[in-house]
Amino acid sequence: MSSKMYITTPIYYVNDVPHIGHAYTTIIADTVARYARLRGMDTFFLTGTDEHGQKIEQSAKAKGKTPQEYADEISRKFKELWDSFEISYDKFIRTTDKEHIEGVQKAFEIMYERGDIYKGTYEGHYCISCEAFFPESQLVDGEFCPDCGKETVIVKEESYFFRLSKYQEKLLDWYKSEEECILPKSKKNEVIKFVEGGLNDLSITRTSFDWGVKLPKSLNDPKHVMYVWLDALLNYITALGYGTDEKLMRYWPADFHLVGKDILRFHAVYWPAFLMSLGLPLPKHIAAHGWWTRDGEKMSKSKGNVVDPKIVADAYGLDNFRYFLLREVPFGQDGDFSQRALIDRINSDLSNDLGNLLNRIIGMSGKYFDHKISGTNVRKYHAREIKKTESIINGLEEYMFDMRLHKYLEELWKILGIANKSIDTYAPWSKMKEGKEDEAMATIALVANILAKTALMLHPVMPKTTLKIAQALGFEIENKNFEKFILQNELLPDFTIKSIPPLFPKIEKPLLEEKKRETTPKKAPKEEGIITIDDFFKVSLKIGTVIEAEEVPKSKKLLKLRVDLGEERPRQIIAGIKEFYSPEDLIGKQVCVVANLKPAKLMGLLSEGMILAARDENGLSLLMPETTKKPGTPVK
Ligand code: MSP
Repeated sequence: MSSKMYITTPIYYVNDVPHIGHAYTTIIADTVARYARLRGMDTFFLTGTDEHGQKIEQSAKAKGKTPQEYADEISRKFKELWDSFEISYDKFIRTTDKEHIEGVQKAFEIMYERGDIYKGTYEGHYCISCEAFFPESQLVDGEFCPDCGKETVIVKEESYFFRLSKYQEKLLDWYKSEEECILPKSKKNEVIKFVEGGLNDLSITRTSFDWGVKLPKSLNDPKHVMYVWLDALLNYITALGYGTDEKLMRYWPADFHLVGKDILRFHAVYWPAFLMSLGLPLPKHIAAHGWWTRDGEKMSKSKGNVVDPKIVADAYGLDNFRYFLLREVPFGQDGDFSQRALIDRINSDLSNDLGNLLNRIIGMSGKYFDHKISGTNVRKYHAREIKKTESIINGLEEYMFDMRLHKYLEELWKILGIANKSIDTYAPWSKMKEGKEDEAMATIALVANILAKTALMLHPVMPKTTLKIAQALGFEIENKNFEKFILQNELLPDFTIKSIPPLFPKIEKPLLEEKKRETTPKKAPKEEGIITIDDFFKVSLKIGTVIEAEEVPKSKKLLKLRVDLGEERPRQIIAGIKEFYSPEDLIGKQVCVVANLKPAKLMGLLSEGMILAARDENGLSLLMPETTKKPGTPVK
């Protein structure tokens, strides 16, 4: 195993205040960093804020601030939150830092000199919210962003391009040769499919706004600023001094880039290609986690249901919240936050399994042995339990470095299961009555040892609580003890067990008031998408007759139709069916139209409805009534 650990979170956009999603990534990274340090690895943990781009410029304007003022304000909020959470980052980078900007310009220059950057003109669809370009083939209804669903804008401007297409094969080779370069493996296949589909060169500069890193002076082209993702991804090396003071570059390559699934493509395709162009080694692992919802619903500012991590941590305890986030959801899958689920974890895993165990040991050691426990006979009476415990502990590290933290915790809890069961099975109180004091002592020492090992292994997840456990058991959580009691499977010889207040008082009811939200009550599991008849009737479906049809110039997909719906004037409908129908095929045909859809513009043309069609691998067919119906006839 490598003796260093370089782990990063994404740098967070400063157009939004921190929420549970940000806290999740940061807490995972913090946990791995703490584990690595406890393990004695030379560790560097990076987080920070992503402050350039059109989105930030627009948000600042809306607030009547300069982008820099706005970025300063929100970046501070992130930093303050992480500091209040005692996140153990080694550097908090801001993309407005002078060293970062210099490093990015240096990288641009190198890529340019290598011939990987050239000047051209970009025309295409851009989603400002995702700060990403999309080919028309990927847009929803020819217009909307396939990732966030928001309207895209057409951008036509002079642009510098990065030769991404040149790296397609090299990227595919990398995915093939490095088994675990993308975690979890299921996500890797999605990336491979995307790259196999073909890579276009990437537009990496913009001229239509200012809030970005200027090109290097040597290019003498001041109207361009860099594409925010190029600027942002480079933070992972500029934070180590790339292009300025390269002292920390010894940490490169990153061992883990932690990212949400929505930004995996930027990290697993663009970033390695940029690195190849710079001649730098590629990251060891890019690990993508899933998304959090709240009470089964997507979080959004407009719904007012965004989970504020600070409020939750203040109410339920930071360590408990950390445990919940890591234990509740398998890494890579989506998770749901609810107070109920959090309370269940606290009451069952933490209070019952861990807290009660400690209380029982404190109680029995005091009652029977004046708090002094000797471990001399543990192996004699409990060889089987010790062996099982050791074998579970020896398997844990792999889960940590595979990012399977839920599994790490699930397995760790098995040793608590061994301890709880041992107390019930060997009943020290009966042994005391029978005069078998050394057996009772051995069982209590077994449990104390299991608790000590648990505290060491759980420390990265619950730093404060485990210090209290260690204090009660009279030992230190430190690298030396980790080596002894975890890596070398030693047992603590003697304990002086101290009383401490219960660590996890049971929680009876939600501690935070739920805001009444005007959402329809949950009727069925979300996946099934069950709707009521009332929901269905919100959609007005009507039969219409196509009276005119023509191609939309320059569009591969769109046809412009005029459809008679029995109204005063026919509707103009822009439909993405050109690959399957020619205009002549359609004139006179009847189709089924969503008549109350909000009008939208597709390639600058107003579309006043949507035509229903079914598509499978054999092509697309419009839905048509079996016999002719009057235009405007409702479909029910
Ligand atoms: N600035 C870019 C990242 C650049 S990294 C070189 C960005 N920032 S972000 O603030 O929009 O998102 C940061 C992270 O938060 C992403 O990894 C994203 O997946 C994560 N999350 C945002 N909402 C989330 C949930 N609801 N749940 C879990 N994580 C989510 O993207």
